[in-house]
Amino acid sequence: MRALSGIQSSGKLHAGNYFGMMKPALELQEKGETFYFIADYHALTSVANAEALRALTRDVALDFLACGLDPERTVFYRQSDIPEIHELAWLLSAVTPMGLLERCHSYKDKVAKGVPANHGLFAYPVLMAADILAVQADKVPVGQDQKQHVEVTRDIAIKFNQKFGETFKIPEPMIRASVAVVPGLDGQKMSKSYNNTIELFASQADTRKAIMRIVTDSKTVTEPKDPDTCNVFALYKLFANDVEREAMAARYRAGGLGYGEVKKALAEKFLNAFEPFRRRREELQKDLGQVEQILQRGARRAREEIRKTLNAARRAVGLE
Ligand code: TRP
Repeated sequence: MRALSGIQSSGKLHAGNYFGMMKPALELQEKGETFYFIADYHALTSVANAEALRALTRDVALDFLACGLDPERTVFYRQSDIPEIHELAWLLSAVTPMGLLERCHSYKDKVAKGVPANHGLFAYPVLMAADILAVQADKVPVGQDQKQHVEVTRDIAIKFNQKFGETFKIPEPMIRASVAVVPGLDGQKMSKSYNNTIELFASQADTRKAIMRIVTDSKTVTEPKDPDTCNVFALYKLFANDVEREAMAARYRAGGLGYGEVKKALAEKFLNAFEPFRRRREELQKDLGQVEQILQRGARRAREEIRKTLNAARRAVGLE
């Protein structure tokens, strides 16, 4: 089983990235071959500042390694170290119907929110298909928001195979139902574009401040509350074991528990859970040369696979 996933370096990583994609992806390291990469070409569709992009890409590398990505087990690379992905994206573009891309929610949502639509944003799913098909991945661990993009990838691969002969494996999305959508501070999906995130490695004070801002209803301390509709509880669940979760749910229903107290409990859990990662991150940060070496070695390994696929695709379409 070969898994592939990527994360854009377009902002600081947050709890939504961690529970939606990183944690499930990291668990797969023990179960098969894993290819994880930093999607910095994709980040260009929203970051237009060279210094910022460099810093964000470095931060994603540090975050991922700190959270447990093992470069001995996982091929870990920067997308932009492998320009072959773009050649493959072009071959895929030639079989991608416009309508398939026009239907993508992620593109439509951004445009609806007033994000200026550049061609990169529109073609984003084709580049993503190239990422996935290039390594002949079987599984793609992603959050719910990326499901449609993996379906588009499947459609593109099937079309290509029909037109030019069996070239690509048809990948499947892998989505954890329990954490498919991590709510943000305002209750919408946690996303940097909604400005409602809890960053993984902000200062402790800023982490606490963010958690205290989570939106709740206005029930008083004494009133009984419904854990299942509460954003704070939805986040608390991600950190609690079954016993803790049930105990907290019972206190919600009984009344006498204020949202302030749950938020404090969540903040402690959050900070404790990420404390070992935070320490590892500080160590890694002292040796950025080593981080760079890890990425370059990963790029060499990924490139070998990707060249094989690209050569097969070039032959299939008649470029060789
Ligand atoms: N679009 C993904 C996201 O924003 C990142 C990504 C780029 C990706 N290429 C990918 C994810 C390939 C999985 C597979 O989260």
